[in-house]
Amino acid sequence: MTLANDIDAAAAFVLARQRQRPSVGIILGSGLGSLAESVEGPVHIPYREIPGFAPTTVEGHKGEMVFGQMEGKTVAVLQGRLHAYEGYSPQQITFPVRVLKAIGCGVLMVTNAAGGLNPAYLAGDLMLISDHLNLPGMIGHNPLYGPNDPLLGPRFPDMSQAYDPGLRDLARQVAAELGFSLREGVYVMLGGPSYETPAEVHFLRVIGADAVGMSTASEVVVARHSAMRVLGVSMISNVIPLPTPGAAAGAGQHGIEGPLGHEEVLANAAKAAPRFVSLLRGVLRRL
Ligand code: HPA
Repeated sequence: MTLANDIDAAAAFVLARQRQRPSVGIILGSGLGSLAESVEGPVHIPYREIPGFAPTTVEGHKGEMVFGQMEGKTVAVLQGRLHAYEGYSPQQITFPVRVLKAIGCGVLMVTNAAGGLNPAYLAGDLMLISDHLNLPGMIGHNPLYGPNDPLLGPRFPDMSQAYDPGLRDLARQVAAELGFSLREGVYVMLGGPSYETPAEVHFLRVIGADAVGMSTASEVVVARHSAMRVLGVSMISNVIPLPTPGAAAGAGQHGIEGPLGHEEVLANAAKAAPRFVSLLRGVLRRL
């Protein structure tokens, strides 16, 4: 079976299960699953039923595709994403993106919970992703490794405008109308699952990252390979103060009491969820 065959099989399966033909795909990050609850006329398809989809194993990631209407658009929401640290290959993680494209999505909205590296950021901020640093990809964990199928996309896809300037304009307009500030910055993807040491935090800041997480860049590589237009939004779930030289990592390093944990990430994501949902809805309305 080739990749194209696998994509066709999964696409045929989800299109047979429900009648809607989505134009926008949305990937929901840690703790941001509540957006799926505002989908109208939802049809839920668990990942475990879809051929070729790996199951989600992380708390806060439900593992369902949700089809329905939002702001007059037909959407396909991936409620729960797959990560490299779960033991999945870059190709497995991005297979759902291939399927979104195959069933008609020309736009991908990709979201995540991320740690804020930019000293101006506060927990709960929303950051428009202007660009990314794909660290796993740069050392060989790129989902496009292996034979290229020219029917899926070019061997050497351009990434100079990976995050669509027009969609970013729309997001800025929506945030301005809703009256909240929207950060804009560079997202760096790491493999995880361990959080960063102070030396790694320092390194990430030096190389130009504003926010750090364990997802997204691989999905965006495949989305661009597939000629999808991408909007990326990070929810800053915790802030990571830059280490002072010589200081050890300690309690409060992430702007929270005690060491950073996934529970804090989920709790802060839940607090920012209403703004996050209104931002995405506003962009959908204007598409
Ligand atoms: N580091 C890496 N990934 C994350 C973080 C973080 O601080 N917060 C949410 N995802």
